[in-house]
Amino acid sequence: MCGIVGYVGDNNAQDFLISGLKRLEYRGYDSAGIVTINDDGKATLIRAKGKISNLEERLARKKRDDKIGIGHTRWATHGEPSEANAHPHRAGKLYLVHNGIIENYKELKEHLKEHEFKSETDSEVLAALINSFYGDGKYPLANAVVQALKLAKGTYGIAVISEDNPNEIVVARSGSPLVIGIGDGATLIASDASALVGHTKRAIYLNDGEVARVTKNSVDIKTLNAEPVSAKVEEIETNLAAIQKGGYEHFLLKEIMEQPESLMETLRGRVNIKDGTVRLGGPGLSEAELRKIKHLIIVGCGTAYHAGLLAAYYIEKFTPEITVEVVIASEYRYRQAYVPEDSVALIVSQSGETADTLACLREIKKQGVKTIGIVNAIGSTIAREVDGGTYVHVGPEISVASTKAFTSQVIAMVMFGLTIAEAKGVRNTIIRPYVEEIFKLPNEIREVLGAYQNTIKMEAKKYAEYEHAIYLGRDTAYPTAMEGALKLKEVSYIDANAYAFGELKHGPLALIDDRFFVMAFLPKGELYEKAVSNTQEVLARGGHVIAVTNEDSFDLPVENVIKITTSMEIFTPILMNLISQLFAYYVTVAKGLNVDQPRNLAKSVTVE
Ligand code: M6R
Repeated sequence: MCGIVGYVGDNNAQDFLISGLKRLEYRGYDSAGIVTINDDGKATLIRAKGKISNLEERLARKKRDDKIGIGHTRWATHGEPSEANAHPHRAGKLYLVHNGIIENYKELKEHLKEHEFKSETDSEVLAALINSFYGDGKYPLANAVVQALKLAKGTYGIAVISEDNPNEIVVARSGSPLVIGIGDGATLIASDASALVGHTKRAIYLNDGEVARVTKNSVDIKTLNAEPVSAKVEEIETNLAAIQKGGYEHFLLKEIMEQPESLMETLRGRVNIKDGTVRLGGPGLSEAELRKIKHLIIVGCGTAYHAGLLAAYYIEKFTPEITVEVVIASEYRYRQAYVPEDSVALIVSQSGETADTLACLREIKKQGVKTIGIVNAIGSTIAREVDGGTYVHVGPEISVASTKAFTSQVIAMVMFGLTIAEAKGVRNTIIRPYVEEIFKLPNEIREVLGAYQNTIKMEAKKYAEYEHAIYLGRDTAYPTAMEGALKLKEVSYIDANAYAFGELKHGPLALIDDRFFVMAFLPKGELYEKAVSNTQEVLARGGHVIAVTNEDSFDLPVENVIKITTSMEIFTPILMNLISQLFAYYVTVAKGLNVDQPRNLAKSVTVE
């Protein structure tokens, strides 16, 4: 989704802006632009449709040594991707970059007849509105921004500069993140701390409803009501290695392969293998509060939602006294759902910025329900607004397709469930096998990735020509199938859908023909034989089946079988999901598509 950068300091602003925008590329965008202003107030504005490399080509002819500037990557919401719609937008002597959506932009535009609009964007309306207060520049820029924002409805993270004062940037946020980096002889702005890595380790995360006037040596924060805010400087934990490909061709492969380590980070200090128990400090619930829980609501979108579905299957198995409801955030936020007493909500988000998930969090909080974040991005909005939480600590996930976050989200939620179970007095003989498998899981993941990467690389090529795929599973393998299908469709553009095996006969079986391949997940266990029978039904209709199983005796005449050797009994679906991840990756590579930034998608979906 859109990205913002800004620079005011002693060095070349263009250099920082371009390198910062490149860091934000992973979020997804369709145009980009920067503006810098020299000491005499002369601005250099460069914008281009498409990749940042297009912007760099134009920049080559407009190199400047200006010391202040702002930049943006745009993911189109209002108006097509084009140079005119790209940010920064100009109004008078002001330039603005904006993330988010100004919902009442049409109404505001009606009153801005003086401004000659050059784009179709809501952002230009905001620029013009600020300019209408700023006038001839005698009114302080920060005050003009505040006046305008009081009229704007919607979400925003903005940065504004003026030709009149090439020493200050005014930034503000409401529902769209903004970070201020405290550098050496410079102050940096970004919508995502990853753009600041390598420049500074010290950052201030702006809160909703705050406006800051930033110079190279100062940061002055106030609320929209002009109350001063004392800034809290926090440390950026990410390092450069974490946001580089580290020898891999794509971030997606790097992130799949680093799951043994990223899961270890999720588990660090939280698993007591001697006692067969887990400890989570973050949720901040007392034993008594844990014991009282009767109902869990798990809220997320996309992969985070699938992680919730899988975790729910597990939690129900070892904590029979509670019910678990997993909901899609974009639906739940508009439902008139009654949250039963003694509920706790798990808010699951890698980025911690997903607009729908954030909206649910706020709705649920209004009902007085305790909210616990299962979040990756440290300092993100969701992480800061929940009542308590467990960071999954998988490090930056750059590829749009979420992989390592999924694995750790599932396990973090299972650990939370185990904490409830312990408090409720569930026997240790029931809990211990889960804890033991969790403890062994990073190593098992390492083995599966090592053992099957090459096989899948070879096999996946054969499926690159298909246009349709069906993923099948039951019980814990059902959410695994759903996540596998999502991964395949989002990166390879193969139309992939998932069904519960038992649902086949109720409709989807009619689809099976030569245009489809079928990925069937058959973990050992109570329902294995039933899944085998369902697979036979597919084979009988000429389906091209790839079976993924850990059952040695599996001998159906499928097109391909991936037999996983593992000692896991409970978390086999997580290992099977690794196969799906690698499969989606290699199919996409075989098709020659953009693996890390699939078309039309953004990493962090900060608009509704
Ligand atoms: O940052 P979040 O976890 O809140 O993101 C939720 C979804 O947008 C995300 O998981 C999306 O489905 C991924 N692109 C899937 O790979």
